[in-house]
Amino acid sequence: MNHKTNMTLAVFGLGHVGLPTALGFADLGWNVIGVDSDRSKVESLTKGHVPFFEDGVDSLLKKHLKSDKFVVSSDSNWAVNQADILFICVATPEYKDGSADISQIENLAYQLRDSIKSYKIVIQKSTTPVNTAEKIRIILSQPKENEEVQSADKFVDVVVIPEFLREGKAIEDFFNPQRIVVGLDDMSLKETIINLYMPLFQKIGKEEQDLMIFTDTRSAEISKNAANSFLATKLSFINMVSDLCLKVGANIDSVSRSIGADPRIGTDFLKAGIGYGGECLPKDLNSFIDSGKTNGVNFSILEEVQKVNDNRVTVYLSQIKDTLPNLKDMSFAVWGLAFKPNTDEIRNSPAINIINKLIEEYAKLRLYDPLAMPVFKNQIGTSELISFASDPIDAAVDSNGVLILTDWPQFKEQDLSKLFQVMKTPIIFDGRNMLDRDFVTESGFEYYGLGI
Ligand code: UGA
Repeated sequence: MNHKTNMTLAVFGLGHVGLPTALGFADLGWNVIGVDSDRSKVESLTKGHVPFFEDGVDSLLKKHLKSDKFVVSSDSNWAVNQADILFICVATPEYKDGSADISQIENLAYQLRDSIKSYKIVIQKSTTPVNTAEKIRIILSQPKENEEVQSADKFVDVVVIPEFLREGKAIEDFFNPQRIVVGLDDMSLKETIINLYMPLFQKIGKEEQDLMIFTDTRSAEISKNAANSFLATKLSFINMVSDLCLKVGANIDSVSRSIGADPRIGTDFLKAGIGYGGECLPKDLNSFIDSGKTNGVNFSILEEVQKVNDNRVTVYLSQIKDTLPNLKDMSFAVWGLAFKPNTDEIRNSPAINIINKLIEEYAKLRLYDPLAMPVFKNQIGTSELISFASDPIDAAVDSNGVLILTDWPQFKEQDLSKLFQVMKTPIIFDGRNMLDRDFVTESGFEYYGLGI
């Protein structure tokens, strides 16, 4: 398959990983078939509608439905037989005990095994615990139903290329990767994988050796889990230090800047606040803790990381309760629902935990988020204590406090004199440490950040 210029790729699972990956490769010139078992998703994508928000995906979808570089299908058997390379991008949710549920991957592997009739490379992109690629390889090499001889074994190679795309920046990250980790147990596949990414290297003016890290499949799987667990560790570390700053009246932003100036530490992921959320960091941390347990390795450091993060909501709520003890009669403007800006993702968002706790105390909440309000209504529903605002100032009318729960840049740009006028009591609880304390207090507000 070396150096083919007209390869067809089939991407199985068209969610936050699969769809940007499929469209990214289509934009690089490959023929891509996107496959999903959810027929309504397939139907909506075929019409050019993306069922979730991800910057840039919408326009790439329209562009490549038109260019015919991207087609969508729910017929996995057909897709397998059209394609040279099969990408596994299905979800790996977590079980209650924190371990990763890889059943969607296993089921897909059985389906692929039954459809494969000629040589394929199967690329595992879903985030998985170590040894999943080996499980896929074993499934693919088992005899098909009603067949005595091993079938797919000689036809299939399994490669692990973990994805490091951030939600909200998935397309940007696809075209500007910091590294492409490739786990292979057979180094003769190297050339084909380099060929797959060659149009990207040409587009961005990089060489294969600038970006590609070749390793074995287990190391590639661990790299993904370790990267997200390290990011979570960095965040819980800085959040722990911010608690000290809060107690002694120091400033966590100055501490972050001071330690981040050392390139061995680095400035990113040092913003203290109400903690990390989303679908990836919490889940991958749990799954990595489970891998430690399964393999008899002490990962207790990561259990502490998780505890610090779980406690962020309590720290934030105590600050509100210390200032306004009787929450029952209070009304708050909630600025931000998403787990981070530029996404409508609210799964594991600290904002949702905070909202639930405040509702338990009968506080009235008026919510505003630039993107996530429809998803909130859909997934969480509403209550008589909750209403929705048309903009941040509207959310704050007659409120006792503004709660900043997502660091959307537009929250920084609000007219503070207008905000001051509409609020009952001008107090800001900045859960993302995003406003300038001096500026806000000089504008007449009482201001509470987390360690600033
Ligand atoms: C994360 C990783 O950053 C990606 O590299 C990875 O590919 C992805 O998971 C995945 O596994 O699919 P993502 O979940 O999109 O990406 O979110 P991040 O941008 O990493 O943010 C995670 C959380 O940390 C957010 O809640 C954010 O608000 C919080 N955060 C981030 C802080 O509280 N402070 C910071 O300084 C940075």
